[in-house]
Parts: sequence; C-alpha cells; structure tokens
Amino acid sequence: MSAARLLVALSSAQEARFVTTVGGSRSLEVARRCADVPDLLAAAAAGLGTCAAVSPDLPHLERDVVDRLVRLGIAVLGVTAPGDEEGERTLRQLGVDRVLASTATAPEIAAVVEDVVARHVPPQPELLRAHRIPAPAEPFDPSADGDLDRRIDLALGGDFSAVRPEPAVADLPAEDPEGEIVAVWGPIGAPGRTTVAVTLAAEYALAGSRVLLVDADTYGSSVAQVLGLLDDTPGLAAVARAAEQGTLDAAGLMRRAPEVTPNLRVLTGLPRADRWPEVRDGAMGTILDVSRRVADVVVVDCGFGLEADEELSYDTAAPRRNATTLTTLERADHLVAVGAGEPVGLQRLVRGLTELAHVSSPSPRVVVTRVRASASGPGPESAIREILGRFSGIEDVAVVPDDRDACDGAMLAGRTLVEHAPASRARLALRDVARELLPDRVPEVSTRRSRRGRRAS
Ligand SMILES: Nc1ncnc2c1ncn2[C@@H]1O[C@H](COP(=O)(O)OP(=O)(O)OP(=O)(O)O)[C@@H](O)[C@H]1O
Ligand SMILES: [Mg+2]
Repeated sequence: MSAARLLVALSSAQEARFVTTVGGSRSLEVARRCADVPDLLAAAAAGLGTCAAVSPDLPHLERDVVDRLVRLGIAVLGVTAPGDEEGERTLRQLGVDRVLASTATAPEIAAVVEDVVARHVPPQPELLRAHRIPAPAEPFDPSADGDLDRRIDLALGGDFSAVRPEPAVADLPAEDPEGEIVAVWGPIGAPGRTTVAVTLAAEYALAGSRVLLVDADTYGSSVAQVLGLLDDTPGLAAVARAAEQGTLDAAGLMRRAPEVTPNLRVLTGLPRADRWPEVRDGAMGTILDVSRRVADVVVVDCGFGLEADEELSYDTAAPRRNATTLTTLERADHLVAVGAGEPVGLQRLVRGLTELAHVSSPSPRVVVTRVRASASGPGPESAIREILGRFSGIEDVAVVPDDRDACDGAMLAGRTLVEHAPASRARLALRDVARELLPDRVPEVSTRRSRRGRRAS
C-alpha cells in the first residue's frame, strides 16, 4: 500500500514533534508543511495530499475550511497538545471527528490516518474538472467501492454525514431527547410558506411543546416582520457565524433566539437577502443539530430554491444559496410542501413536487392554501385534489381556505394567527395540519368536528 500523503498544518508548538514522528513511518509521508490555511487549501486543491493534519489553534481554521477540504477529497485529522480537551472539542465542533495528541507514536498515527482516509469518500474526477480543481495524483476508481450515485451525491454537496459525523454538541446532557424538525417549503411565488410555518410553530407552542421557529429563507426572510420583531435581532447570521467558528452551543443559540410568546422562540432570518452567502451548508447543519437540542419541535421556513446546479458553475468552495434549504430538507423529520390554490400556484406546486422527488427529504405533506372559488372555480377543493392526484400522484391534500381578513389582521398586529384570530378558518385548518404531522403534540378538540373535508368558500 502506498504511503498516506499528509498535508501538515499545525501550529509550531505541535508541528516539530509530529513531523519528526511521521518522518520515521513507512506508511506515512509528509507531502507538505503548510504555513497557514490558504497554503493548506492550495496544496489540497493541487492534489498534493490525501489527509490534512490540523491543530485547533491554526489561525482562521473554521468549519468552512474543513468542509472545503472534504469537498476537495481530503480526509481531515486533528492534532492537539497532549491533554488539550478544549482544543479537541473545538476541532470536533469544526467537523473534525478524529483527533490525536501530537505525542502519539508513528503506528498510532498511521492507524488513525488509515481509518480517516478509509472512511473518506473522494469526489469524482469529472466533478473536480467541472470545479476547475486538478484531479488527485491517484486516479479515483469508481469500481473500487460500488454505490457510484451515492458518491456523486456526496461530491455534489449532499449528505456529508457519511464522510464524517457532525460535530459533538457537548453542552447538554446526552439523555436530553432530540427535537423533531418540520421543514416548510413551497415553490416560488409566495404561496404562503411563512404563514404556514409561523402558524404551525405557534400551534405546537400553545399546546406546550418547546418550539424554535427558524427563518432560513435566503431569498427573503419575513418572520421577524410578521411577528413584529425588531429587524436588528441577530438571528440566523449570528448563529451561522458562531457555527462556522465552532463555538455554537445551546446557550448561544437560545441567546440569539428570543422567546416571542410562551414556548415559542424565533431565530430571525437574514436582514438583507444579499447576505445569503453568510449561511453555508455546513453551518446550517450545525444550527439544526443544536436546534434539536433546545426545542421539542424545530419549524424551519425554507426558501423555495431546490436547484443544486449552480455549484457546477462555481468553485466547490463557493457558498450555495439553496444550501440552507437542501440541508434542511435532508435533515428534516417532516416536510410540509405549500402551494397556492390558484392555477399558477398549482402549476408551480406540481413542478416543485417533481423537483422535490430528486432531493433527499421526507415525503411531503401537501398543503394548498389560500383556496377560494374565485380562483379555482366552484368546488375548488375537489378540483385541487383532482389536479394533484393526476399530475403529482398525491392522494391526500390538506386544504386551507383563503382567509384574507384573519391573515391581514394578524400581519398588521404583528401576531400569529393562533393569537390574533384563533377561531379563523385558516387557523383551524392549519391546526389540523399541525395535529396530523405530530399527533402527540396537538390535543384533539372534542367540541369541534374534524375540519378535514371542510369546504372552502
Ligand atoms: N390562507 C390564507 N388566506 C389569505 N391570505 C393568506 C393565506 N395564507 C397566506 N396569506 C397571505 O399571502 C401572502 C403571502 O404569504 P406568506 O408570506 O406566508 O407567503 P410566502 O410563501 O412565505 O412568501 P415569500 O415568498 O414572500 O416568502 C401574505 O400576505 C399572507 O398574509
Ligand atoms: Mg416567506
């Protein structure tokens, strides 16, 4: 077996000893001693190494750097001073799951390097070319390890959990149950995603669950405005920054997500849509993992975009605008797909559901909202069910009537439908959706007949 080629990017305190030890091993080779992060990334992009050794105190080592290395086909190993638990924790939070002390022996280092490299999935040469990155020196053999689609998916920025586990979140007891993620998605054209997300979140909170509502729409956040919050609440951008730096913990997330009504915390979105590059996919994954630890239910208002193609026209290192949505859909336990009850809205929903089928996500609970006879003809519900059954194969559709007075009133008051218009038709229909999704979290109301099948006006 050829020697593993190491790119060594350690602070000077650890470097000398580590390099000397590695130099004495036949199965390891120091391909380059990197002075800093840019040097490391350049060496990785040039295909000089198979494994990067990084130390926690390397300046500008951030989560995004680790993600870039992974995308460049480099396995990552952490090296700390002996007994440096904090350094080890920092590395794990950055996504480096195998960490060694710099005093490890050559056989110990070789064993860990072999393991890290073996678990790492290198990207396809075609993709490297598309990303203008030189192919690694040893050509990648697709027949070596079946499951080509999976590998391509990984190289495209798909599920990286197979490459390395997500960073540990060490600040809450392990026995704390993890919350469920409900992603609310819908195609372009303001079908009513935010209204659905806010109302579902409010519904679970009212029934006593600890809820975190995350505005992750990178095309135009609006939860802050809908709930009458100040624009300058730090929200998603601040949390993403902390996640990049490996410092996001439950307390930090809670601090940045104010409680707006009992049990309902809100992580507001980007104050300006052009700040979307601040939320990288690796950061979003960490945010969702930490969110699960602080809430029973995490409701995410997603952007509409699902296309991953944009990556192909940029470097792999470039941020991806739809990454927050794709990462959320991939991690979600439940997915609500929202469409508008009018001809154009339904056409977009049908197309969107086809696109969804190509994305890693739970199967969607389809909700058609703003349903009204004036837009979809007499008997709008059955017409909508017929269209979605015929073109999308969706049999079970939840219908929310157009309820302009209630929605406008709630918006003007900066309150949720649950607070502002609890008896409104839109709220009652959405409460049914909330209960269908998580039956244990919304109590059955015995005094009212089921709203399913209720006719829209
Ligand atoms: N059931 C409903 N009845 C009447 N109006 C509604 C209903 N649901 C949402 N609306 C209204 O439709 C508009 C768009 O809703 P919303 O902001 O929830 O959509 P969105 O899909 O999140 O849009 P965006 O693309 O801007 O994020 C808002 O004015 C909202 O009050
Ligand atoms: Mg919205």
